[in-house]
Amino acid sequence: MTRVCILGGSGFVGQHLVANLSNRGIGCRILTRHPQRHANLKVCPGTELIKTPQIDTATLVRHFTDCDAVINLIGILNESGRQTFRQIHVELVDTIVEAAIKAGATRLLHMSALHADAGKGSSNYLRSKGEGENRAHTHGGSALKVTSFRPSVIFGPGDSFFNRFAALLKLSPLLFPLASPRSRFAPVYVGDVAEAFARALEDPTTAGRHYDLCGPQIYTLAELVRYTAKTLGIRRIVLPLGSGLSRLQAHLLGHLPGKPFTLDNYLSLQTDSVCERNGLLALDIQPQTIESQAPCYLSRAGYRGRYDRYRRELTMMNG
Ligand SMILES: NC(=O)c1ccc[n+]([C@@H]2O[C@H](COP(=O)([O-])OP(=O)(O)OC[C@H]3O[C@@H](n4cnc5c(N)ncnc54)[C@H](OP(=O)(O)O)[C@@H]3O)[C@@H](O)[C@H]2O)c1
Repeated sequence: MTRVCILGGSGFVGQHLVANLSNRGIGCRILTRHPQRHANLKVCPGTELIKTPQIDTATLVRHFTDCDAVINLIGILNESGRQTFRQIHVELVDTIVEAAIKAGATRLLHMSALHADAGKGSSNYLRSKGEGENRAHTHGGSALKVTSFRPSVIFGPGDSFFNRFAALLKLSPLLFPLASPRSRFAPVYVGDVAEAFARALEDPTTAGRHYDLCGPQIYTLAELVRYTAKTLGIRRIVLPLGSGLSRLQAHLLGHLPGKPFTLDNYLSLQTDSVCERNGLLALDIQPQTIESQAPCYLSRAGYRGRYDRYRRELTMMNG
């Protein structure tokens, strides 16, 4: 494997994956709408950033042609006027698969989400992710060997889970009202997710497989938020909200700029994000705990990218 083309390679998971692949001597061609914002990625040897304001089949075929594999990490947590779940998680996947086949690429690694299910997903996010995953495998056919990854919430430097709660906790007064406090997660370390992609690239027997990816331990949302506050050394009382107030909170926050929490996010939380069978173990990866990783970046002043962004957004919201 000498070169891969990555869509969404500039994001949180993408940056960790690019570093991993670059260390293995694999060149990464990253298609991005904003190459100037991600110029830091060019320090990874063999990495190119290609400005791609518009994703269509012809553009993708051009960029995929001399790549051995395509990796799709593009995804959104919330819809906006400009992009819907269907456009990003379903139609875009169709375009990527079509272009990959036309360009002669033989592998596609596709990022889905744990419990993505076109029929039974509890939210529009999970249903659209499920449909995109199904289509990638079906339309790939025998020409394009597809492997999908279905992670629980992903944590690590630059994440939008612990960093987001850190920002919210710091801005909140003593009481922190929390929607869906009993929802369960098995947070998975971003380095382990990147390693799973890298191993799948090297192992042709992973073609056609769907890997659920989880960390080693299960926590409720309330436990994770209390852990974040404790790690930051701040005292907050987490106030668990019942379903009615959780929905109300989602409804209100979903109308704020930046949509910190929406009704669809609330519906995703109605499905516990835990694995029945952990694909990391099948790939011979020992999952990292949050306790071994999160304190390093939550308390480190240098790792402030997303934290600062959320703090700015929230400060603006609070007037
Ligand atoms: N983070 C998690 O906890 C988690 C959990 C389960 C599944 N996932 C899935 O993992 C994938 C990566 O997540 P992430 O946290 O790394 O996301 P992220 O940081 O938000 O990055 C997503 C990337 O997608 C690109 N993108 C977004 N909207 C786009 C659009 N309309 N057109 C073209 N490109 C677009 C962006 O690239 P540019 O702005 O540079 O163009 C961005 O780099 C997503 O599919 C997500 O659904 C994430």
